[in-house]
Amino acid sequence: MNEVLIGPFRQLLTMRDLPLKGALNDSQLEVIEQGGLWIENGKVKAVGDFETLRSQAGDAVEVELIARDKVCLPSFVDCHTHIAFGGNRANDFAMRNAGSSYLEIAQAGGGIWSTVKHTREATQEELKELTKRRAACLLAQGITTVEVKSGYGLNKEEELKTLRAVKQANAELEMDLVPTCLAAHMKPKDFEGTAKEYLALMAADLFPVLKEEKLTERIDAFIEQTAFSAEDIQDYFKKAKELGFKITVHADQFSTSGSAVAVAFDAVSADHLEASTDAEIALLADSDVVAVALPAASLGIGCAFTPARRLLDAGASLAIATDWNPGSAPMGQLIASAGILATMEKLSNAEVLAAVTFRAAQALNLSDRGRLVEGQLADFVLYDTNNYQNITYLQGALQPSAVWKNGIAVRS
Ligand code: NIG
Ligand code: FE
Repeated sequence: MNEVLIGPFRQLLTMRDLPLKGALNDSQLEVIEQGGLWIENGKVKAVGDFETLRSQAGDAVEVELIARDKVCLPSFVDCHTHIAFGGNRANDFAMRNAGSSYLEIAQAGGGIWSTVKHTREATQEELKELTKRRAACLLAQGITTVEVKSGYGLNKEEELKTLRAVKQANAELEMDLVPTCLAAHMKPKDFEGTAKEYLALMAADLFPVLKEEKLTERIDAFIEQTAFSAEDIQDYFKKAKELGFKITVHADQFSTSGSAVAVAFDAVSADHLEASTDAEIALLADSDVVAVALPAASLGIGCAFTPARRLLDAGASLAIATDWNPGSAPMGQLIASAGILATMEKLSNAEVLAAVTFRAAQALNLSDRGRLVEGQLADFVLYDTNNYQNITYLQGALQPSAVWKNGIAVRS
């Protein structure tokens, strides 16, 4: 038995009993003053008043006393990233800010395709190292579960190289990487055929290997005028579902139609949604699809934020993720970007914290993390502060002083 009791925390936030969907206010948060966390074999055995737990635990349980004012809460889940990439797109950023259009940037050698070229140039080992380095930056922010998409390979071998690199990185890291296949990011410029032909080839050739090598359980697609249409994607998603993959969608980033596809295919999440109107919001709110806001992408390209307030008020589930990628979202800062979204969209602390913990876990179909309650993974962060409100208030300036994964301190 590997048991430890940690505390007393100035505040322990459990996220207990908060619903998966809809608006939240801060009075719904369970905040235990002088709280304790009892961990057994990497999972939460009990939470509650520290002294009460201490008398229950007895001498057999190791006790780790927390000396200073600290706040403890579930560690974060970043449910949408593209961190397995080569190269850099600083020039796209500069050109965009100087007024260049999407087309002009692509013509000057930028855009998604330029990252595809750089990613193809990297070896699997290099890609693994780049992924690990970026994952370490996320871990320092208190993120212990990170979704990682392919989508800069865009042919069978290159998509496999990326997902194998992610699998290897996952094996070498003290955090969980959740891989997703985004072969449907755009039709590659070197593919001679239609969008549907490209997708059919990927479904026939790539999907079986993903299964064989257990490289991912998730299939994503970018539904957009510049990528794939709702019609293009039908057979691809049908095939994916037949094989048992979960679906997730880059939806309504610049134009609508992606969220309707997400709902029709029972996707786990619809991500972006900057262009969603009342119709898409109502559709999502009526479904179990988690709406994922990516405020760092709005900041990266200078466009509207996802209508997070209206989504929550309509009853949708809202997660927030970094979308860390070299093009639209280079910052890779979860709490900073979530704290900014909170001011722009008027989100409560409870809504922001839910969006980066159990609601983000739900977007990855993971129900074993994101709350500090009995039976959940003992994945948590500690902040040197006496008030949890400081986390969103300081918009990323307050960083965790320790990060625990599966009951082990992986950063302290
Ligand atoms: O999530 N929207 C499409 N894909 C990425 C951007 C990819 C890129 O520009 O490299 C996104 O924003
Ligand atoms: Fe993305």
